[in-house]
Amino acid sequence: MDRIKIIGGNKLNGIIPISGAKNAALPLMIASLLTADILTLENLPRLVDVELLIRILGNHGVDYSVNGRREHQDSNYSRTVHFHARHIVTTKAPYDLVAKMRASFWVIGPLLARIGRAEVSLPGGCAIGTRPVDFILDGLRVLGAEISIEKGYIDAKTHKGLVGGEYTFPKITVGGTHVMLMAASLARGDTVLHNVACEPEVINLARCLNSMGANITGAGTSEIHISGVSSLSGARIKVIPDRIEIGTYAIAVAMVGGDVMLKGSFPRLLDSVLQILRKTGVNIIENAEGIRIQHNGDAIEPYNIETRPFPGFPTDLQAQFMGLMTRANGISRITETIFENRFMHVQEFVRLGAHIALSGQTATIKGVKRLQGAQVMATDLRASVSLVIAGLAAEGETIINRVYHLDRGFERLEEKLSNCGANIKRIHGDNYLVDKSSSTAAIS
Ligand code: UD1
Repeated sequence: MDRIKIIGGNKLNGIIPISGAKNAALPLMIASLLTADILTLENLPRLVDVELLIRILGNHGVDYSVNGRREHQDSNYSRTVHFHARHIVTTKAPYDLVAKMRASFWVIGPLLARIGRAEVSLPGGCAIGTRPVDFILDGLRVLGAEISIEKGYIDAKTHKGLVGGEYTFPKITVGGTHVMLMAASLARGDTVLHNVACEPEVINLARCLNSMGANITGAGTSEIHISGVSSLSGARIKVIPDRIEIGTYAIAVAMVGGDVMLKGSFPRLLDSVLQILRKTGVNIIENAEGIRIQHNGDAIEPYNIETRPFPGFPTDLQAQFMGLMTRANGISRITETIFENRFMHVQEFVRLGAHIALSGQTATIKGVKRLQGAQVMATDLRASVSLVIAGLAAEGETIINRVYHLDRGFERLEEKLSNCGANIKRIHGDNYLVDKSSSTAAIS
């Protein structure tokens, strides 16, 4: 299994190109199931999760082809890919595929809408909590789906096609919003969804569906209206920049010091995070090229946060922000409100010398002057990257084990960081593609 070795202490200086967002790419790829025409996605990141979803979609009959390199394009980064679901050959999404990536459960929406049937394995729990799909199923029932659960599979059917309806999500869910948008686009009549997710990735999907001929208004607000259409066509759409990648590198610079341009990032993707980073003492300059982050690596002010759905502080940056707070001048509190078990990085930070006490869903962090390098274990995607940035700030050598999580969600992480002066190296072990276990890959 691969490991990452970091010798901490180097400041970061230079340019980091921001990749397409994993969390936008996955639902956009799944939307290709809704049409017999070609859906072209630009700026699709090169990630293990994207490759896995290509395999999962391939099982349903989706062909794909990749554009060759274009002038001025770095062939190592995001690319343009065409998806073509001319015929759906199976409506079954088997356990061994769905268990590898939780978001693949979302195929239930387009399969049901286009074919009238979806048999999708329940995704099961994952390292950051139980993550049920009850609201997704309730929403689909409102659109007329008959749903039964047998032998670990959801069997969803509709005999005369989906029909529009009104549904209020009891709790904001990103995946639930994606599924309902896709399903309702091909339902007969109008659908109104209340208490939906406002994440930029939802807007990206709604724009894509509208380019395919759907009739969606209100994406980006808490209420969405969809007038169903009888079929959707192909389209071409660009995957938005990855706001979690932007936030992660911004926090890295805050933690170790330096001056880095996050090229291709827009502030509106993560306003709340940038405002908080400013309050911790980070200098942030926004211009047409991207967001420039400057900090001397010392004198980080403590700040209390609660994770919230967009536009609040994202749960996917909670672990990284905790890393930053381990070095703050004082005490800070971090409360996780989205997932019940998303503190597995705490014990690993403690191995690096951090002072953190956990009580329920709140972590209290007493900043220390220096972290010290140690061996640590990556537990999920975002926790893994928080250990990388903590390692960059720690004295001496940090070895991060089980790093295959990083490849699921961060495009060329070591290369981007070492180009800015970090001393970071991958130590190759066994083939991680063979070695990946289902429980780890299910966290997206
Ligand atoms: C997405 C993101 C993930 C991010 C999360 C929250 C992708 C691929 N993943 O995950 O990175 O951390 O949003 O921003 O985009 N819930 C229910 N019942 C349901 C659905 C959800 O109780 O039917 C709960 C979940 O357990 C969780 C909360 O709602 O407590 C939010 O989850 P949700 O927004 O659905 O997360 P995902 O879409 O899976």
